[in-house]
Amino acid sequence: MSEASVLSVDGLETVFHTAAGIVRAVRGVSFDVRRGEKLGIVGESGSGKSAMALSILGLIEPPGEVVAGSVKLNGRELAGRPDRELRAVRGKEISLVYQDPMSALDPVKTVGAQLVETIRRHDRSVSRGAARRAAVELLRDVEVPQPERRLDDYPHQYSGGMRQRVMIASALANRPDLVIADEPTTALDVTTQAQVLELLDRLVSERGAAIVLITHNLGIVAEFCDTVRVMYAGRLVEGSDTRTLFRAPAHPYADALLRAVPRPDRLERGPLPAIEGAPPNLAQLPPGCAFEPRCPLGAGRPECIGEPPAIRTFDGGRSAECHFAEEQLARSEVAS
Ligand SMILES: Nc1ncnc2c1ncn2[C@@H]1O[C@H](COP(=O)(O)OP(=O)(O)OP(=O)(O)O)[C@@H](O)[C@H]1O
Ligand code: SF4
Ligand SMILES: [Mg+2]
Repeated sequence: MSEASVLSVDGLETVFHTAAGIVRAVRGVSFDVRRGEKLGIVGESGSGKSAMALSILGLIEPPGEVVAGSVKLNGRELAGRPDRELRAVRGKEISLVYQDPMSALDPVKTVGAQLVETIRRHDRSVSRGAARRAAVELLRDVEVPQPERRLDDYPHQYSGGMRQRVMIASALANRPDLVIADEPTTALDVTTQAQVLELLDRLVSERGAAIVLITHNLGIVAEFCDTVRVMYAGRLVEGSDTRTLFRAPAHPYADALLRAVPRPDRLERGPLPAIEGAPPNLAQLPPGCAFEPRCPLGAGRPECIGEPPAIRTFDGGRSAECHFAEEQLARSEVAS
């Protein structure tokens, strides 16, 4: 873990015990997030993005289970710590903007009561009155109109966009060092998406926090993130600074995604493009590379069928988990 890392994840593995077998949702994920970094994580539906986020925060519940790995936040190990300790860290040092805000907000408590609780959970010396005033300021910060009045509304009285803002307000309430935002804009129209991203950007930069932004949307990554990691079948298969990856991907899956975007030079916001074939069943993974059946470069190659690829690293700190990453990179460089 480098000095500047706020988060360091190493060998994280999470499974779900299901009737169909053991679903290996997160399979040995390792990455660091530096202070102030804006990291984007992209990958198809079911690739393990939310499971990874929940695992980092110690929020995986049965039938799920984190079976291996280390999660260091500001140098301190979180994996395996009792929930009581993790509750003290969550919201204060690291927080999560949930994929579904309704699942994170309590429908029978007003938005104000929930924000006050969040603020006071980590600092009992803050009076209710002061916490309420801070909650109004937070709602104002996230541009909820008439915050004094809206504080006493229940979550269902807010629109989807407003609920998402409340989630962001709540995640930022105690000035965490790291915010993980899981698809914070998916349910929103394009204008609201832009406002939410702007807001996240402003709040994160003002408060000097780092952000991990999970999204299906390559346009959002191109616009918002300094660095990007591509997730496939429970693994981070490519990692790079954003511009480098978009110019010349080193992993065939990242290449396929970018090729499927109609105008790669002008990445517009939109859902992750569909590529041919289906993702593998995470309960029955093949012995070799999980992308092999869909891979334009490796399908049928004995190395790809027989052995899971190791991570290869390249100049500038980029990495790709592919037997033929150099070949892919050479092709990408020619095409760029
Ligand atoms: N509670 C659960 N019980 C059983 N399996 C689960 C559970 N939660 C997730 N999984 C499985 O774990 C895998 C990863 O799911 P996850 O929700 O992390 O994907 P994701 O990348 O976040 O997808 P999306 O983009 O649709 O949000 C999937 O195969 C999913 O079916
Ligand atoms: S290891 Fe082989 S199958 Fe997997 S991505 Fe690389 S070339 Fe494709
Ligand atoms: Mg998800």
